[in-house]
Amino acid sequence: MQRYTKTAMLLHWLIALMIVSAFFLGLTMVAIPGFTPTKLKYFSWHKWLGVTVLALAAIRLLWRLANPPPAPLVSIPSWQHKVADGVHYLLYFLMFAAPISGYLYGSAAGVPVVYLKLVTLPALIGPDPELKAILKTVHYVLVMTMAGVVVAHALAALKHHFIDRDITLKRMLPRV
Ligand code: HEM
Repeated sequence: MQRYTKTAMLLHWLIALMIVSAFFLGLTMVAIPGFTPTKLKYFSWHKWLGVTVLALAAIRLLWRLANPPPAPLVSIPSWQHKVADGVHYLLYFLMFAAPISGYLYGSAAGVPVVYLKLVTLPALIGPDPELKAILKTVHYVLVMTMAGVVVAHALAALKHHFIDRDITLKRMLPRV
């Protein structure tokens, strides 16, 4: 069986874990009323996770362009390959667009990201209340779209594993 490389697996599962964590942390933090220290701490963690996803997505894209994935499985019909390719392109787009929208929202709100409490990252735009409201909606729509696409992607992998009983999922898992 031709598996994905260790680098591909590491980037895939690390980014997946961070996206899921940023998503649920995002939902948790916005549900906290007022401005408590816990809420502010969660906002910082959320932003650190999101910025890390963005950096890892850039590394992953560059790495992927230089290292093609294993050949497609011949047992899978070509229309399914086309749908899967479309979903993967969409996921790559969202891995960039979702964190960038959050970053721009933070910039428009005038709150800089102090990454890991160590480095203040540059604001990409100046404070702008009108843009802030728009970017908040854009971030919301992108992360909810991402959640839907991630669930569809994961369900498809599970269907291949448990119903079709092919090696689609195994190729992305380390040998045990
Ligand atoms: C993959 C990366 C990311 C995911 C999955 C994600 C997900 C979320 C989610 C689910 C929410 C709650 C939305 C709501 O219910 O209103 C949220 C809110 C927020 N996110 Fe992100 N986010 C990501 C990256 C970022 C980044 C990089 C930043 C900034 C540097 C950021 C800044 C914010 C802020 C400030 C809010 C609060 C919005 C409000 O004031 O209501 N996010 N995010």
